[in-house]
Amino acid sequence: MRLDILTLFPGLFSGFFAETIPRIAVEKGALGVHIHDIRDWSRDRHGKVDDRPFGGGPGMVMACQPLVEAVEAVRAMAGRPGRLFFLTPEGRRFDQRVAEELAGEGRLLLVCGRYEGFDERIFDILEPERLSLGDFVLSGGEAAAMAVADAVIRLLPGVLGSPDSAAEDSFRPGRGLLDHPHYTQPAEFRGLAVPEVLRGGDHARIAAWRHEQALAKTGRFRPDLLQG
Ligand SMILES: C[S@@+](CC[C@H](N)C(=O)[O-])C[C@H]1O[C@@H](n2cnc3c(N)ncnc32)[C@H](O)[C@@H]1O
Repeated sequence: MRLDILTLFPGLFSGFFAETIPRIAVEKGALGVHIHDIRDWSRDRHGKVDDRPFGGGPGMVMACQPLVEAVEAVRAMAGRPGRLFFLTPEGRRFDQRVAEELAGEGRLLLVCGRYEGFDERIFDILEPERLSLGDFVLSGGEAAAMAVADAVIRLLPGVLGSPDSAAEDSFRPGRGLLDHPHYTQPAEFRGLAVPEVLRGGDHARIAAWRHEQALAKTGRFRPDLLQG
């Protein structure tokens, strides 16, 4: 997958892609990452990318010219245009189903907003899809882009150590359950013992126990998931 991220703060992504799963994905060749500074497309000699809102009010609005030209230029950098997403609270709610859908794409472009958001004409011109992380307001789209990227990257073939690692994750479409409880050494800690079934080596019993526990956990913490 080729991932292009457009941001006013490219430095925020250096740590994210330098460590753990994103770094492994790049090293294994499953992912190519390209971070673009929207300011590079500003025609203003001070690199201005925002301006005051028409109609008054607080804050600044991301202006059309730098962002529209940045997206057009980045889109043209590879053979396929890719799917273009703006991170914005008004977008489609991001969840595991969307993550799985996006993991099947060859190219994604994620655009991070700042300030009060985007001049509306940017949407009219570029007609992007809109993605939201949830009903809350972040100060910028970068944290949202990292969350989307992280959820998608771990689903790319060959990225996780074991292909089964993601199979029983919470929220898998078609499964709709939370993950089952996990235990590791020691077998007893502060008087709490690991359930006997997990120490017995009977794989069928373990699978049945885990399924039962996943159902119970979902009923306790997310009963809404069971209603479907
Ligand atoms: C301070 S927010 C703008 C909020 C906007 N004025 C509103 O009330 O909807 C700045 C940027 O953060 C990003 N952002 C904020 N909340 C988000 C969310 N829930 N999901 C995705 N992106 C978000 C968007 O890129 C947005 O343009």
